[in-house]
Amino acid sequence: MADSRLTSPPILHRPTEGRPEPRMELPELNIQADAGLPPTADEVVVFQATGVNVHYGKFLALKDVDLAIHRNEITALIGPSGCGKSTFLRCLNRMNDLIPGAEVGGTITFHGEDMYAPDVDPVDLRRRIGMVFQKPNPFPKSIRENLSFGMKVNGIRVDDDRIEQVLRHAALWDEVKDKLDQDAYALSGGQQQRLCIARAIAVNPEVILMDEPCSALDPISTLAIEDLMRTLREEYTIVIVTHNMQQAARVSDRTAFFTVQQLDGGDRHGILAEYNATERVFRAPEDPRTQDYITGRFG
Ligand SMILES: Nc1ncnc2c1ncn2[C@@H]1O[C@H](COP(=O)(O)OP(=O)(O)O)[C@@H](O)[C@H]1O
Ligand SMILES: [Mg+2]
Repeated sequence: MADSRLTSPPILHRPTEGRPEPRMELPELNIQADAGLPPTADEVVVFQATGVNVHYGKFLALKDVDLAIHRNEITALIGPSGCGKSTFLRCLNRMNDLIPGAEVGGTITFHGEDMYAPDVDPVDLRRRIGMVFQKPNPFPKSIRENLSFGMKVNGIRVDDDRIEQVLRHAALWDEVKDKLDQDAYALSGGQQQRLCIARAIAVNPEVILMDEPCSALDPISTLAIEDLMRTLREEYTIVIVTHNMQQAARVSDRTAFFTVQQLDGGDRHGILAEYNATERVFRAPEDPRTQDYITGRFG
């Protein structure tokens, strides 16, 4: 069922002759050039999207997406504004259910089971698949309460050890250990975003979805979040939407490039143009549209 393009280990090519080299300055990638990713046979597919279409009313926003997300990897979704990155991300924890008029077609499985089956509880699903948004959105409560609220709702025992563990996990403990009962709004933007990540992991999810989590942050906080993502990958599966290609190249294992397809009749919709190991997407993309995007000719 899976497209072999998506599953083969990355083979590093130099761009073929006649094809311009990407102009983007590439940061150091977290994949060793000669190591590649482990072969897919040993990998666990967490989500498998097959033929996914998303409509908002009559508008087909996202067309026919096939994509597999692998466990303990960071998958980046990139592409120009309006190509459906957020729409696709929201498919992965059924957040589109909450948007009036949004309709998801095709199939998405989570550990092999249809996530959209009538007997699946979307609330339970959203505990297992947490989400972090663009703008840090802590509750207007203390740091401690930001974490304990979801834990209590989910029947997780709240104690000081657990609070410390979660904050350490989110690389925030040292900065907040003396002010756990202070208002979360007193934290800096970057700290608030790490608190939101802590809040997401406090309820023991398997997956963390992040929609442009750094776009409201300064460069130092952005790097702190990227460091944190690399640590979290050991335990969680992360899917991140980013408009920052350097960020996708720096942190992700695989990159999905979405774009907008313009039809003759004037209709436009988002499609997945290319999905591959990040190294491959940035160094030797298969699709000319990816090449144009990453070299800055488009978008
Ligand atoms: N709630 C909504 N209602 C109607 N159209 C929407 C809604 N959300 C997004 N869209 C449309 O769907 C397309 C994809 O949007 P989105 O997923 O937000 O793109 P991206 O995150 O890549 O910028 C865009 O044309 C956008 O205008
Ligand atoms: Mg978006």
